[in-house]
Amino acid sequence: MELTGSIKEVRRQVKEWRKQGLSVGLVPTMGYLHEGHKSLIDRAVAENDKVVVSDFVNPIQFGANEDLSTYPRDIEADKSLCEAAGADLIFHPEPEEMYAPDFSTFVETQQVSAGLCGKSRPTHFRGVCTVVSKLFNIVMPDRAYFGQKDAQQLAVVRRMVRDLNMDIEIVGCPIIREEDGLAKSSRNTYLNPSERQAALVLSRAIFAGEEMIKQGEREAEKILAHMKSIIDAEPMAKIDYVEMVDADTIQPVQKAEGRVLAAIAVYIGTTRLIDNFIAEVR
Ligand code: PAF
Repeated sequence: MELTGSIKEVRRQVKEWRKQGLSVGLVPTMGYLHEGHKSLIDRAVAENDKVVVSDFVNPIQFGANEDLSTYPRDIEADKSLCEAAGADLIFHPEPEEMYAPDFSTFVETQQVSAGLCGKSRPTHFRGVCTVVSKLFNIVMPDRAYFGQKDAQQLAVVRRMVRDLNMDIEIVGCPIIREEDGLAKSSRNTYLNPSERQAALVLSRAIFAGEEMIKQGEREAEKILAHMKSIIDAEPMAKIDYVEMVDADTIQPVQKAEGRVLAAIAVYIGTTRLIDNFIAEVR
């Protein structure tokens, strides 16, 4: 497995693979890889001849007061995980390789990026769409793999790919959880032991909402009220949002009907965590 920070080298390698008629999968990440990322790489390895993992903490998707400078990084551990999972190339560029000093072109979706995380992180999805477009242009993969944990990101990327006629299959992969239910996230490392315990309130609320739909409840308001009451009972938790939306358009729904996404963002201390479930109600 090779690691490079050079766009030119990625292009050279991918061209070589293409000449041999090989298919290419891309797993875009910001590094500090965990089991959730590994599940994306495993799937990519199973479905493609060659797999590129991008490992880049993208500065333009962080807001001014967010955690860009403290975002966890460990490229040596990332290398070991990628190698063990069977990836072929890690693309690990410096910010200067990705963004010229006078960089001034952005890709932005509307509507789908306005709600949920878009409310409290107004420039986040513009940063995500821009870097994902750049990665797609650099790697030109057949398929790209994203986690369902970032459900709005997945919907935004799907919309961008559809709207801009990008010839890339977007593969969404299930949320991977710790044994006690907490969704895996690089940001879990920010939690101290009591916050880590308090963070379980997210998955408890998610499982409770999911169960209500399984039991036949369809009123979004009732389901969300129950989920909120679970989170409010945890003194260390502060709700950013608890919402039910159409899973593709990310527009609010009154009823759990069709393909709906129940998504939550909750501060545990200063750490903002997200979780969700998708229900297909026919
Ligand atoms: O989900 C992430 O880790 C990032 O948002 C992504 C897709 C790699 C873009 O920087």
